[in-house]
Amino acid sequence: MGIVLAIETSCDETAVAIVNNRKVLGHIVASQIDIHREFGGVVPEVASRHHLESINSCIAEAFEQANLSWDEIEAIAATCAPGLVGALFVGVSAAKTLAMLRNKPFVGVHHLEGHIYASYLSQPELEPPFLCLLVSGGHTSFIEVQGCGEYELLGQTRDDAAGEAFDKVARLLGVGYPGGPIIDRLAKEGNPKAFPLPEGRISLPEGGYHPYDCSFSGLKTAVLYLVQKLEKAGNEIPVNDIAASFQHTVAKALTKRAVRCAGDRQLKTIVVGGGVAANSGLREMLTAAAAEKGIAVHFPPLKFCTDNAAMIACAAAEHFDRGDRSPLNLSVQSRLPITEVASLYPSTSLG
Ligand code: KG4
Ligand code: ZN
Repeated sequence: MGIVLAIETSCDETAVAIVNNRKVLGHIVASQIDIHREFGGVVPEVASRHHLESINSCIAEAFEQANLSWDEIEAIAATCAPGLVGALFVGVSAAKTLAMLRNKPFVGVHHLEGHIYASYLSQPELEPPFLCLLVSGGHTSFIEVQGCGEYELLGQTRDDAAGEAFDKVARLLGVGYPGGPIIDRLAKEGNPKAFPLPEGRISLPEGGYHPYDCSFSGLKTAVLYLVQKLEKAGNEIPVNDIAASFQHTVAKALTKRAVRCAGDRQLKTIVVGGGVAANSGLREMLTAAAAEKGIAVHFPPLKFCTDNAAMIACAAAEHFDRGDRSPLNLSVQSRLPITEVASLYPSTSLG
């Protein structure tokens, strides 16, 4: 495999990394969280503008950290889907321009494939098949990973993603943005059994429930009604207990489905990816439940759970090694199913 420089600008982190195969040589993340905090969420136009302002210095810093020159870079990669179109456009344009200038191949990367590859950075010996539980701000997916670019979507959320639910519940509790890490911290001081909350099962027309799909919008609404009821009664809102009960319910919903899914598919390993993989409640519950069934679980280190370019470079390095290249007219896309990764490499092995 090769030495790859990758750029990630799909949301509110401007990130650049250089990896050699599964080894990180340089890794820079310029977070815009402080800028978006005053709006209570990511403002797409503001995100694009800040990516543009930070991208050049992030590239320079990644080179400094890696202590490499352009000659040693074998391919240039960028996240091209899914994400905020204007934000993606900044990273992809920078990567294509550099590819042209430096005469290097360009490799477009699917953001969710990057989250899957985050686990390889700390577990370089890990190999498919395994189940990936992908839980981020935009996605909650149960994916069977059969190989590089070979993914089967087994289950997903029907409405809010897990991270989105954390962010929305934090907002209605008035505890700040982004909600995931804040709720995680508050939950440590609360009682997870204080308030029973609905887990969000999906009914099937023929009766029973979908084994893997889930829903978090009902859970979010239940927390809203609970807060309103307590306020109406003039009670002080027990923020820590609500945070703990909410987090416990999300962790339970995800754990049950992931363990069942891996068992049904006879997969012996679960890999977790995305920002919510940083959640301590999920880490604890899933690790214990999987161990009971003889299933190993891998969580990436916290810095590779949330958006970063090292995971994108790691995915790109494997595609590069297989001969996958993207055309310089590859477009950015706000949505692209993980099962359509091959469309990014039209003239090569996967295409
Ligand atoms: O993967 P990511 O950085 O961006 C997307 O691709 O969406 O995920 C961001 C999401 C946010 O919703 C954030 O609240 C959540 O991950 N998150 C967490 C934790 N840290 C970040 N959720 C729960 N517990 C955490 N410790
Ligand atoms: Zn992400």
